Amino acid sequence: MSTDHERGRGRRQAKVLDRGSTAVAHPNIALIKYWGKRDERLVVPYVDSLSMTLDVFPTSTTVRLSPGARADRVTLDGTSAEGEVRRRVVAFLDLVRELAGRTEPAAVDTRNAVPTGAGLASSASGFAALAVAASAAYGLDLDDTALSRLARRGSASAARSIFGGYALCHAGQGVGAAADLSSYAEPVPVPDFDPALVIALVDAGPKAVSSRVAMRRTVETSPLYEAWARSSKDDLTDMREMLSRGDLEGVGEIAERNALGMHATMLAARPAVRYLSPATVAVLDGVIQLRRDGVPAYATMDAGPNVKVLCHPADAGRVADTVLGAAPGCSVVTARCGPGARLRTAAGR
Ligand code: PMV
Repeated sequence: MSTDHERGRGRRQAKVLDRGSTAVAHPNIALIKYWGKRDERLVVPYVDSLSMTLDVFPTSTTVRLSPGARADRVTLDGTSAEGEVRRRVVAFLDLVRELAGRTEPAAVDTRNAVPTGAGLASSASGFAALAVAASAAYGLDLDDTALSRLARRGSASAARSIFGGYALCHAGQGVGAAADLSSYAEPVPVPDFDPALVIALVDAGPKAVSSRVAMRRTVETSPLYEAWARSSKDDLTDMREMLSRGDLEGVGEIAERNALGMHATMLAARPAVRYLSPATVAVLDGVIQLRRDGVPAYATMDAGPNVKVLCHPADAGRVADTVLGAAPGCSVVTARCGPGARLRTAAGR
């Protein structure tokens, strides 16, 4: 994987660009999920997670310093961002300014090729791109580990999108500063395993309950949460073994059971959090039928109704047809392993 990733790393040197710093990052899909924070302020997860960065739905973010402005300006897909989105971006800029010892406001312009807030990891690509662009704009020279740690403060899944291919995010140890320092992602080299991920967009609208609220409720009220978190450790060990063997069936089985277990913890929360819709369940049935027909295909779902189906690239067309048959009206995009976040030269330079 990734010559692309390595090239990306080369281009990611910190530099201050007059016309702003633009970074591009891709979403990732966790094969072993992160769900639940043990420190909400520092965004430190309870469990380790492992993901595949995708080659679709990039986020492009430009950060321009505006020394004369009174406040930060945040635009998302061309529209001024307000409320929670703006609050999270400004809090992130405050953190970068604190690290850089700077005070100037900035203008942040983000373009998402993925529907925002629909459980398609827009926060992962979004905060990875923002970490790379903002740290460059404010003149911070951070290595990949520090960028990953920084991206985590925006959204824990973003820590993994700093890297291309497969990435493992450590939940870290200790509390406070020790937890912050020890929680970051790192690449997991997996030679010769580049499956397809067929993404079934059954509903691209924003989710009813944010993952932030849903996680907190799950940790606080779900009697299943601790059991899932414990079993997730074994899933991670098994997953690393199957990835190193390039065993699609092993990887798929573990990813599917880990995701279903995560959703079980939410269903047992009080009140229940249910992201899976009738169309989700229809696609899951389609995946089971594919396996009965001898096609290795395995599903994973995040904080939304969309389903991602892992399969051999040669089977991706058949999997997409099955998904469309199971949930007419949904749209399908096929992804492969993608590159890590990288800094791009600003337009006109
Ligand atoms: O980092 P967030 O708030 O986008 O958390 C989402 C976590 C899941 O997507 C459900 C799982 C994961 O590990 O990406």
